Amino acid sequence: MTGDDPREEPREFEDEASGTAADAVAVDEGATPLRADGGAAGADDVALDPWGSSTVSDYRKLFDEFGIEEFDDVLDEVPHPHYLMRRGVIFGQRDYRSVIRALQNDEPAAVLSGFMPTGDPHIGHKLVFDEIIWHQQQGAEAHALIADLEANAARGLSWEEIDEHARSYLLSLLALGFDPEDGDLYRQSENREVQDLAFDLGAEANFSEFQAIYGFDGETDVSHMQSVVTQMADILYPQLDEPKPTVIPVGPDQDPHVRLARDLAERMRFFKVSKAYASFELEADERELVAEFYERLDPADFDDEQLRCVHVAETLEETPLAELGVGASTLESVLTKLNEGGMEPLRPRTRFSDRRATDAAFDALIEAIEGEKRVYENHVDAFEIDRAEAEELAREIEVENGGYGFQPPSSIYHRFMTGLTGGKMSSSIPASHISLLDDPEDGYDKVKSATTGGRETAEEQREKGGKADECPVYELYAYLLAGDDDEFAKRVYDECVGGERLCGDCKEQAAQLMKEFLEEHQQKRAEVEELLEEADIELESPRRR
Ligand code: TRP
Ligand code: SF4
Repeated sequence: MTGDDPREEPREFEDEASGTAADAVAVDEGATPLRADGGAAGADDVALDPWGSSTVSDYRKLFDEFGIEEFDDVLDEVPHPHYLMRRGVIFGQRDYRSVIRALQNDEPAAVLSGFMPTGDPHIGHKLVFDEIIWHQQQGAEAHALIADLEANAARGLSWEEIDEHARSYLLSLLALGFDPEDGDLYRQSENREVQDLAFDLGAEANFSEFQAIYGFDGETDVSHMQSVVTQMADILYPQLDEPKPTVIPVGPDQDPHVRLARDLAERMRFFKVSKAYASFELEADERELVAEFYERLDPADFDDEQLRCVHVAETLEETPLAELGVGASTLESVLTKLNEGGMEPLRPRTRFSDRRATDAAFDALIEAIEGEKRVYENHVDAFEIDRAEAEELAREIEVENGGYGFQPPSSIYHRFMTGLTGGKMSSSIPASHISLLDDPEDGYDKVKSATTGGRETAEEQREKGGKADECPVYELYAYLLAGDDDEFAKRVYDECVGGERLCGDCKEQAAQLMKEFLEEHQQKRAEVEELLEEADIELESPRRR
């Protein structure tokens, strides 16, 4: 064992620690110690499986392979970012800007996440509870749901177990600050609107797609598939009263669900808005090419001072392929389309394509478009409105005519915590995680016996510093124990990597903080019992099986 391989378990190191070592290494102030990039040890797969094991070994692959974007790209735009954002625990996002903008402008926005009541809520769930609560406090309409149908269908839990766990999740959510009077709580099985929406969405998805996304096969329970469309409906539920930016805070394992929901939201739309240059359709790369030549060519150079499809075709044919920046097949396809267009003038326009609009909605749209327009069988071209106006108009007409007008839901992703025993945090290994219901003394003990990023000996630690980035105990500080206090988190980090902090003392401090956190949290849980009884959510399912 070399100790250099980050996938190896950081070794246990118990020192008799005097803590404040006189020979402490100077601390590099320039480091960025707040980031909890600590190692998800042991994992190596990047497949995102909502019902599999939740570990991710390489977060960068999520950006490259799945198109999740870095949270850092938008961090500066978030007003008063939560500490989980500041510390890089929330590391990824899709389309989160739309939510930030709405919050900034006091426009409607929503947050929604769901919990499968399969066990006791633990400190990993706390991340999501905190994310929901933070958005609620920033003015978003907040929804939290109990995924009881999913727990029953995908995990086979009985309704009795589900009720017990559901109650416990809700108590922790309220104890951490969710305001049930201003927010919405529901369980999937009791929400008729969600079920109706799920049915509608189901008409837009088919089995082959579920197979491709989730690996379902001929043996998969139909109710498991139903729980997927139910989750799609959960995600779009905040937009039933009106379309609005909605953020879904989840772990990256849920990203397949988010992607499908974004797709379905789009497929449900009545109209698709795009840019076009003539009556026919162009693929994206073809359109770019035509756009470029449209800009480049001067109509005055042609017979009747009109730029026509054939003119562009001719110019393209005269230009060497290498200069065009597209493949031969793209060029061929554009040329065919342009030549078929013949003498049709080339003019940029905003196109509304009819996807699934009713006749009445299509007529209403035609009516509503101002300025010059051209109506075709399945699309209308508008010459005097830009893309953004067109998007707005399309949504307005859709909603007025009984459509949903969904915006694609946004998402934010948090890192998974490393287990206290190294490897992944797993509810089936009690020592690896801390339940919010753990006896505070047990919580204390678990932290005390946690794996660390410490060195073999106190000497070596003083000399080289600890590996905070690979230390589950440091993660506890960053994700939870330091709370909003960045300075404290930074101090722990700096002292650790600077060799001033030794693991024994460090764990003692963390264990003490954990104990206090659990005591306080459990006290609050008791206090919000009444609040939960008054909340508008069914605590006992009439179902029994
Ligand atoms: N599938 C989620 C889980 O396994 C639970 C869930 C159901 C959910 N509906 C949701 C999460 C909607 C986010 C949004 O934990
Ligand atoms: Fe040790 Fe604390 Fe550093 Fe972890 S953070 S390696 S427990 S000193």
